[in-house]
Amino acid sequence: MADQKSKRILSGVQPSGKLHLGNYFGAIKQHIALQDQGEAFYFIADYHALTTTTDAKILRENVRDVALDYLALGLDPKKATFYRQSDVSEVTELAWILSTVTGMGLLERATSYKDKVQQGITPSVGLFTYPVLMAADILIVRSDVVPVGKDQVQHLEMTRDMAGYFNNTFGNVFPEPRELLGEAAVVPGTDKDKDGNPRKMSKSYGNTIEIFAEGKPLKKSVMGIVTDTLPPEAPKDPETRIPYQLYKLFATPQEAAELANRYRAGGLGDGTAKQMLLEKIDAYFGPFRERRKQLAADPGYVEDVLRDGAKRARAEAQKTMELVRSATGLR
Ligand code: TRP
Repeated sequence: MADQKSKRILSGVQPSGKLHLGNYFGAIKQHIALQDQGEAFYFIADYHALTTTTDAKILRENVRDVALDYLALGLDPKKATFYRQSDVSEVTELAWILSTVTGMGLLERATSYKDKVQQGITPSVGLFTYPVLMAADILIVRSDVVPVGKDQVQHLEMTRDMAGYFNNTFGNVFPEPRELLGEAAVVPGTDKDKDGNPRKMSKSYGNTIEIFAEGKPLKKSVMGIVTDTLPPEAPKDPETRIPYQLYKLFATPQEAAELANRYRAGGLGDGTAKQMLLEKIDAYFGPFRERRKQLAADPGYVEDVLRDGAKRARAEAQKTMELVRSATGLR
């Protein structure tokens, strides 16, 4: 696209624990790549995290961890504006204003909310209005493109609806943001569901391989990938083998084809494929692990980056709020 450079890109990540391969291939990898293709804003969604994390120490640790993870994986704070959501409190002001033009019905249709209620969680008002806060995150910098995983598409549709309600009621302030889906739509986890089918890698299933795991714990996750009990000699369909599915994410097309052929020919056990996968993970993430250790050794680094990012993000947020206040009559 000719004017890609002028595009505003925004995405948020929840600080909810250790990031895993599903996060990386579903979102993080494309976040990092996009910082060269437009004006990128990435933030740590700590206000959102309050809907699930109620321990201050854990929240602080998680925010620092996810910041270090992103920085080690290649987020360049000179290229992308990287900040903590709660440092831009204008977001909550905009969320309130959006909530006044948003129907209850729209929020009641949110599948992520319905899922949580189904799981037996007693919903807070904050959980119910989570999509309004997310719309405010996106609209506060008037972003055009939002790189997210498939599970966030409905939230993007709702954001467009809210932008439309606002624009129709008060005049045109917000562009309609569109989602940009990552290359690897689904990364399988290390287990299978009760019918023996792979399911997506997700913290809530406890079937993850963490990006920054290494040594024994990493080996344990990889060797623990669930496979059936076919003997090594048996020919196997590579598409049914989780070690192959994960290996493909790291391998060249040629390497992937080779492993697929060895599975089909018989004589290859899943244990060997797991070993090959482990080597790929170490080779790919090894340099990032070293970088993370270096960054973590400088106690002030993360705070400096986030503070500087917040300054830049707030400048944009304040411009948007000027337009919003003048359109609504708040000033
Ligand atoms: N809801 C997103 C998630 O769970 C995180 C998020 C919060 C976000 N605000 C956002 C993503 C704004 C993109 C844009 O992954």
